[in-house]
Amino acid sequence: MKPLGVAIIGCGGISLQNHLPGLALCPETKVVALCDADANTLQRASQQTGVTAISTRFEDTVTRDDVHAVIIATPNLFHGPIAHAAIAAGKHVLCEKPIAMNYAEAKGMADAAEKAGVRHMTAFTYRFVPAMRYLHHLVQRGDLGQPYHYRSCRLQDWGTRNVGWRQQKRLAGTGEIGDMLSHRIDFAFHLVGPMKRLVAGLKTLTPVRGGLPNDTDDWVAILAEFTNGASGVLESSKLASGMNEGWRSPDRVEINGSEGSFSFTTGSWNELLFGKTGGPGLAALPVPREFHVWPGSPRDPGVGDPLISFRYDQAVEFINAIREQRPCAITFHDGARMQGVTDAALKSSETGQWVNLLS
Ligand SMILES: NC(=O)c1ccc[n+]([C@@H]2O[C@H](COP(=O)([O-])OP(=O)(O)OC[C@H]3O[C@@H](n4cnc5c(N)ncnc54)[C@H](O)[C@@H]3O)[C@@H](O)[C@H]2O)c1
Repeated sequence: MKPLGVAIIGCGGISLQNHLPGLALCPETKVVALCDADANTLQRASQQTGVTAISTRFEDTVTRDDVHAVIIATPNLFHGPIAHAAIAAGKHVLCEKPIAMNYAEAKGMADAAEKAGVRHMTAFTYRFVPAMRYLHHLVQRGDLGQPYHYRSCRLQDWGTRNVGWRQQKRLAGTGEIGDMLSHRIDFAFHLVGPMKRLVAGLKTLTPVRGGLPNDTDDWVAILAEFTNGASGVLESSKLASGMNEGWRSPDRVEINGSEGSFSFTTGSWNELLFGKTGGPGLAALPVPREFHVWPGSPRDPGVGDPLISFRYDQAVEFINAIREQRPCAITFHDGARMQGVTDAALKSSETGQWVNLLS
């Protein structure tokens, strides 16, 4: 197996929490270069990892000969320019979500990556929850029947604290919709299929966070129609007071179909709820062991906090796709179609009208 060199661009929270431990699971794979615009963050990451090839300029990092793949984990504004520079240098790219500021930019990234023949992946991390993968398997198998309704609800208590670049539209593009709802919009496509049209509301209830202006949404709700006739209701909030801020706060997805209903929650990584049409109601459905780790991942599901460790399978999938010369399980196309929904929701919220999705 040839050694594979990876560069991390943006050495903040998510790189340290998800990407580094994920890469550590991959054989013959080494982080060889680090980039962060902030010199102190870069120094800290260098000390923590022992990686000495560091730069505050992504242009220098993505063009290094020892870098074969790049992970982009900066504020959203920079994803597109960094991805294009990496693709132009012939590097494979795993980019954090939302991959771009809008659909057009995301589509341009997907097209450029395809043209260059590099692997491209969107970090829709919650696809790696074992229960989500099992749910997708059951839906594909026909256990849901004809889909009727998709429902997702992500509720967190962020209060009115400063959330850094996330509260600046210039850097983040959007607030809650791109930050938290993006994963659940991706689930909707994954489980039910494309949306036909939607009507949405977005609200900024905290124009000031931690004494600084906030021009991004704290709350979003979408009412959607899918092309297969199913309906969708999606809600996400940073202001669900008292409900906890962390990973254990409510994060539920429900789907109802002609054969029955499933309920998924991120907190129950190894269990779904299922109820058969006409039956007594929802009951626990354990996730079989073969779904506890992503195919091809060497991770031991018994090691560490399972609510955290499933995230490591994401980097494994990226590296395995590069090695096996096949598309990643979640590509920039998935990132772009999510962004089509974001654009439509913003337009709907502004105009008060239903908006058709691009087919
Ligand atoms: N997939 C997930 O579950 C998940 C979870 C959290 C964050 N994210 C995404 O990851 C990305 C980063 O989020 P975070 O929470 O780690 O943010 P963060 O603020 O902790 O880290 C971002 C880092 O990028 C650096 N940076 C800023 N501009 C840069 C540039 N031009 N070049 C290089 N570095 C630059 C900052 O100095 C900072 O260290 C965002 O896109 C976010 O939406 C995804």
